[in-house]
This record gives sequence, structure tokens and C-alpha cells, in this order.
Amino acid sequence: MNYPKIDPNATFSLRKIIHEMSPISFDKHMDLCLYHPDLGYYAQVPTQVGKDGDFFTSVSCGPLFGQIIADVIARWWKNAHIAGPWRIIEIGPNNAALAIDVLDSLALDHPDAWHELEFCCIDPLPLPRAFQEKMLASYGPKVRCLENVDSLAELPTFVYANEVLDAFPCHLIEKTAEGWKEVTIHSIAQDTPLEERLTDSIASIPSLLQNCEYPLGYRTEIRDCSLSFWQKLRSCISFGELLWFDYGFAEPEYYAAERSRGTLRVYQQHQASDNPLENLGQCDITAHVNFTAVAREAIAAGCTLKGFEPQEFFLTKNAADRLTRRDLDAKTLRNFQTLTHPAHLGGKFHALHFSIGDSAEHNSTAKRRLVLES
Ligand SMILES: C[S@@+](CC[C@H](N)C(=O)[O-])C[C@H]1O[C@@H](n2cnc3c(N)ncnc32)[C@H](O)[C@@H]1O
Repeated sequence: MNYPKIDPNATFSLRKIIHEMSPISFDKHMDLCLYHPDLGYYAQVPTQVGKDGDFFTSVSCGPLFGQIIADVIARWWKNAHIAGPWRIIEIGPNNAALAIDVLDSLALDHPDAWHELEFCCIDPLPLPRAFQEKMLASYGPKVRCLENVDSLAELPTFVYANEVLDAFPCHLIEKTAEGWKEVTIHSIAQDTPLEERLTDSIASIPSLLQNCEYPLGYRTEIRDCSLSFWQKLRSCISFGELLWFDYGFAEPEYYAAERSRGTLRVYQQHQASDNPLENLGQCDITAHVNFTAVAREAIAAGCTLKGFEPQEFFLTKNAADRLTRRDLDAKTLRNFQTLTHPAHLGGKFHALHFSIGDSAEHNSTAKRRLVLES
């Protein structure tokens, strides 16, 4: 999105910007509230995650999550017989806590892989990027914090991200007697509350929503196609893997008739609400991930589907070495239980895993779970 420039000498607020742009579709509203380069929620120094912030992630409960990711990456590196330079990319590193857990674990437990590693953090926003640079400075030139992947040459690469896809802006749509309509945000005057209206949809409605019966007033979210995002990532990877952790569903479950008010949520100081029209730029706005739609785009960009499973299964499978270590302590065990408990993070989150540049077929179990057409 092209964000409107602001005059540094004037008092600006997101409310004023949205007033001047009104009416705007909901995805633009969400984009401004989260990513306006000066005023957006994620454009600030990253204090959003953790006890003193607005929400917890799998990273907040201890280093094990990053350690298991490091083990998965090191195993891939070893099996791929990578002899020269290679790269890890973390998308959306926020406060860099996950990057630190992964880097420390690689340095300590996988020194052979560490030697020729280049680690890149990707965050388009300048203030968080400067914070990440500071947090990761002690690793020296091995670590780079970049706005995007455009300058990266092709290398064997492992990409990972946690809770980034759910932060991509989404359209809000609603079923009416005249068909699917889109929620747009209107500002009548700068000092009155923002209002929602329904207009003809500009977003392309998935065929499942077009072909099935939904009750009037059914509301849900759709995200614009981000094929170019996947294509750019793809272009800096000679071969490799991509691993995404997030909350969400396969498409039929996402658009289940009983999920009649969608998944959009707002978080501030660990309180959830469903009103994204207040406290602009002060709170997180998020919607669950339609993993089927993500997989379709990644596959269209040349990725092979390697896995799709609850975080519980993925982490348990990949933590075996750590959990059978003699020096396993109670804290690590508690960390594992929090990450994998099926009623909490273990069931709510999924791992979506792709490979690039190998001759593998799409994983048939993952394809079935995602209800991907052949
Ligand atoms: C919920 S936070 C993730 C926190 C962190 N990964 C963790 O696990 O604690 C979402 C982050 O994704 C970043 N983000 C959103 N879109 C992005 C994009 N296209 N490229 C890189 N980062 C992005 C946001 O700026 C924000 O810092």
C-alpha cells in the first residue's frame, strides 16, 4: 500500500488520515492501523509481544520453540549436504526473541552448520528493524536486518515465520440478500466514531463461499492474493524449505456455516475485543489464516507442500532428541507442555511446511488436510 505522507510539523493521527481517505475498505483500514510507517501499531519499537505487551506467542513461553526450529533447520542443512554458504530468513522477527533463540541454539548445538550461515531478518518497518539490529548486533556480520528480500542472491535457504500470516491485512465480507458485500469504513467527521457500511465487494470471493448456502449476516474474512510475496521469496532460494507457524484452519473449516462472525480479533493488554475501529494504532488486529489459500499461492509460486499439521504434532516429532537428553530440566519440560498442549498452543497453531527445488511430490496427507484439489 502507498501510505499517505505526513507533515512532521503537524499533529497527525491515524484518525485524521482515515478521515481524509474515507471511505476505505477494511483491509486498507487494517493496513494503516498496523503498518503506517509512523503511526502503525507494528511500526513502533516492538513491545507488543509478552507479559507487558498485548499478547503472548509461542516464543514468549521460553527458548524451546526456537531451539526445535534450529534442530529442524540443522537437520535439513545436514541432509541436503550443503557445503558452502547458506542462509536462514526469519520473516517478521518483531522483538528478535525468536531469532536469538534460533541463533544461540545453532551456535551451541550445531557448530558445523553455524560456520557458513548467513541469517537475515526481514521487517519492512524502520523502527522495529533498528531494534532488531541492536538486539542482534553481538552476532556480527553473520546477521543482517533487511527491509525485504530484493537484494538477496540465490542461496540454499531455510525460511521460517511465527504469527506473521495472521497479521496480513484482510477484507471483511458479509452475506446479504443481494449477495456478498464488503465492509468499508466511513468517517463522517473527525471527532465522531468511525462507521461501517456494506458496499459491493472489491475482493474476489472464494468459490466455496459463492457455491454454498450461508445465512444472511454471515461475516468472514478474505485476504488478497499475495502471489508476488511468495514469488519474491522464491527468487532468492536456490533450494530450501519454508516453515510457517500460525493459527487458522483449512478452508472448509474456516468458512464453516457456524463460524458466523468470522475470526477477526483485536488485542490490547491481553484483552480481546472485536472492535477494530477504536484505539487506532494502539492494538493488534488479527484474523485466522486460511491455510488452504496460503498453500495454493505458495504452490503457484513453485513451492512443494511438505506438511500441514497441528503444532503439537510438529514439535513433538521434532523435539524427541531434546526431550530424551539426560540434562532435560523441569523448565524445558514445562515449556514443551505449553507449546504442545492440544487445548492451547499445540492445537490452535499449525505448522505449514514447504520445500523448494527438490523433486518431491506434494505430501498427500497435508493435501488432504488442506482439502486441496489435485
Ligand atoms: C505477531 S507479530 C510476530 C511476532 C514474532 N514473530 C513472534 O513470534 O513473537 C507479527 C509481525 O509480523 C510483521 N510483518 C507483517 N507483515 C510482514 C511482512 N510482509 N514482512 C515482514 N514482516 C511482516 C509485523 O510487523 C509484526 O512484527
